[in-house]
Amino acid sequence: MSLSQESVTEALERVTAPGAAANIIESGLVRQMEIEGSAVRVLITLPGGNPAHADIVRGEATRVLQELDGVEKALVDVRIIAARSGAQAPAQPQVGSQRNPVWADRVKGIKHIVAVASGKGGVGKSTVAANLALALAQDNRSVALLDGDIYGPSQQMMMGGGRPLADESGKIYPVDAPGGVKVMSLGLIMEADQPVIWRGPLLMKALEQFIGDVLWGEVDEMIVDLPPGTGDIVITLCQNVPMAGAVIVTTPQDVALIDARKALAMFQKMDVPVLGLVENMSFFRCPSCGHIEHIFGDGGGKRTAEQLGIPFLGAVPIDPEIVSGGDTGKPIVMARPDSAAAQAFFGIAKKVAEAVESRS
Ligand SMILES: Nc1ncnc2c1ncn2[C@@H]1O[C@H](COP(=O)(O)OP(=O)(O)OP(=O)(O)O)[C@@H](O)[C@H]1O
Ligand SMILES: [Mg+2]
Repeated sequence: MSLSQESVTEALERVTAPGAAANIIESGLVRQMEIEGSAVRVLITLPGGNPAHADIVRGEATRVLQELDGVEKALVDVRIIAARSGAQAPAQPQVGSQRNPVWADRVKGIKHIVAVASGKGGVGKSTVAANLALALAQDNRSVALLDGDIYGPSQQMMMGGGRPLADESGKIYPVDAPGGVKVMSLGLIMEADQPVIWRGPLLMKALEQFIGDVLWGEVDEMIVDLPPGTGDIVITLCQNVPMAGAVIVTTPQDVALIDARKALAMFQKMDVPVLGLVENMSFFRCPSCGHIEHIFGDGGGKRTAEQLGIPFLGAVPIDPEIVSGGDTGKPIVMARPDSAAAQAFFGIAKKVAEAVESRS
């Protein structure tokens, strides 16, 4: 059988970049496709610059092409290009259908599940998720923290704690992290520095296990740290888990604020109530003179929340101790509860608790 452009396209439609909502053809990532006899050469571009993702896409694309009838040689070139303004996931999610929380019976013991999300990467979701969980736990609530960032887990580092234990039936016990929060993260299971390679169905399975096979026990609030953007993990979780609501994290820069709007639009489409907006890395207070500098502009988060008609949950200042604490398993709420940043997190936690309670 001779190879056609069509069959190659069809094969590549089975490949999706990690974190992306649509396959590489739909997302317009396949830039060149040459067929010469039984040899195929394709060029794929990946916005965002994650070499581990490039390897995954290269491996997957090579595999589907080699499986194709008539292909003897498949040459796949994956090039990383600069990210499009902020967004990591190249394509918009295919949402629209009502969500159907099929995993609802697996999370019966959990009263409220709150997702922490952002349109743009690196704005501080994991930091907010960890500190929010700890602040809620200090309010005598039973709190769990699920690291939903399967491709790039970080809660093993932020929250500390050992390895999770499993019983004979395969059920997994979450780690009791310092501060009284039950934590589950793929990073607690995997060896450090190993790239995570989940293909579509396996990814679903991994998420389902995290939700269903972990013995969470009775939990008041489960905080879910989501990967950036609106990719397949975010959509899978929002569709299948009965979310009480989502907290959107942004920084004051315009690009982040634009992406926060995209995140809001996605949650609205998915029927997940948005509990409000957190502005992180809001300002810097000079430790010696006390002067406050709004490095990225003043009041952008609050204004955006007002324009979007969602509550503004609080502004968290830039604090170098957030970085060191996040790297050593001591989030600022625990390490320096009297700091302005920790106080901001306590305020945010109070509003989140009130919001989920008033909704349930
Ligand atoms: N308020 C803050 N002050 C200083 N540093 C901060 C603050 N918030 C977050 N950071 C630092 O910024 C970096 C990114 O934060 P974090 O990992 O929480 O972001 P993220 O949105 O979860 O990223 P990703 O999209 O990669 O998951 C970390 O090094 C963190 O310590
Ligand atoms: Mg993160």
